[in-house]
Amino acid sequence: MRFTTVLAPLAFLASTVAASGATIADAVGVINTVTLELQSKVTSWKGDLLGTLPIIVASTELLTDINNATKTTKASAPLDALEALTVAIAVNNLSGSVNATISAIIAKKHQFDKLLLSPVILLNLELEKDATDKLGAALADKVPEDLKAAAATLQATIDGYFNTGIQAYKLF
Ligand SMILES: *[C@@H]1O[C@H](CO)[C@@H](O)[C@H](O)[C@H]1NC(C)=O
Ligand SMILES: *[C@@H]1O[C@H](CO)[C@@H](O)[C@H](O)[C@H]1NC(C)=O
Ligand SMILES: *[C@@H]1O[C@H](CO)[C@@H](O)[C@H](O)[C@H]1NC(C)=O
Repeated sequence: MRFTTVLAPLAFLASTVAASGATIADAVGVINTVTLELQSKVTSWKGDLLGTLPIIVASTELLTDINNATKTTKASAPLDALEALTVAIAVNNLSGSVNATISAIIAKKHQFDKLLLSPVILLNLELEKDATDKLGAALADKVPEDLKAAAATLQATIDGYFNTGIQAYKLF
């Protein structure tokens, strides 16, 4: 009886720290995988209407996964320096994939224009940027004080890629 009374607060503590650096890095890894899937679908797209379906599906899944990572991050305890580094490596990896995917999307703009689908792509890019900004804000909240500047730089880099894509698709 006395034993469980002593352990109860510990169990509570364990459940609140369940989502930590590794869990967040995993969630970011899921975003990375789907981002690369989207890239490959866009790159292999032949410009036909039916072929846009898998692109829309991957794009929608991407949004779900970003929002899930934000949820996971918000549920996490503050990260220590090593955990923050683990997450930073995953986000840095994602950053390269975002650039590659948005470059692929820009390269297909002419074909999306022909199908009058460019406004849909623009909307998706805006939604994804918005979701990414929320993830970035949630992450910034959890990293140690002396790593906040590095986190902001990483986020600005990713925002820059989105802005390049959004600018290209605004010229419809
Ligand atoms: C959300 O992310 C967590 C942690 O990565 C994972 O365990 C869970 O399956 C994800 N949920 C969805 C709906 O993708
Ligand atoms: C970066 O992404 C690639 C492709 O998804 C993956 O194989 C690799 O393990 C990732 N590296 C890190 C450090 O997360
Ligand atoms: C972004 O991707 C494009 C196309 O693959 C590449 O030319 C460019 O160097 C990349 N930019 C950065 C900063 O990696």
